[in-house]
Amino acid sequence: MSRLIYILNGPNLNLLGKRQPEIYGHETLADVEALCAKVAKAEGFDVALFQSNYEGGMVDQIHDAREKACGIVINAGAYTHTSAAIFDALNTFEGPVMECHISNVHKREAFRHHSFISPRAEGVLAGFGIEGYGFCVKRICTLLTKG
Ligand code: DQA
Repeated sequence: MSRLIYILNGPNLNLLGKRQPEIYGHETLADVEALCAKVAKAEGFDVALFQSNYEGGMVDQIHDAREKACGIVINAGAYTHTSAAIFDALNTFEGPVMECHISNVHKREAFRHHSFISPRAEGVLAGFGIEGYGFCVKRICTLLTKG
């Protein structure tokens, strides 16, 4: 089994740290990567972080994960609320999937309350800031080592 966990990020998350910091905080995607790598390393895993502003780009990254990754943490950004294509792609992946949102989507606009991804996810975290990514990585490590 691969020991590589993919951390997939959707549209606008390249601007993390600059974009609406009152909602998403001041930390950047590089900080997310460093946190995830630290958590994974302590459990004997590695991470690879990707970001795409395109739905098809995210689908391609999920297909790539089929061959290379043992688990996926995904923050699909606004595609969370719209994308059957990302849901279908995740259903082609066999390992555990954790859904992560920096903000508490349930406290926000109604259109953010529905997720196409949640039915495929082992767990969903929202509103923990970037710390949530670390918790999601840890959970994937636990699922893969202890079942
Ligand atoms: C987000 C929440 C989404 O509703 C939004 O479109 C994002 C980021 C979050 O991390 O809180 O881009 O997924």
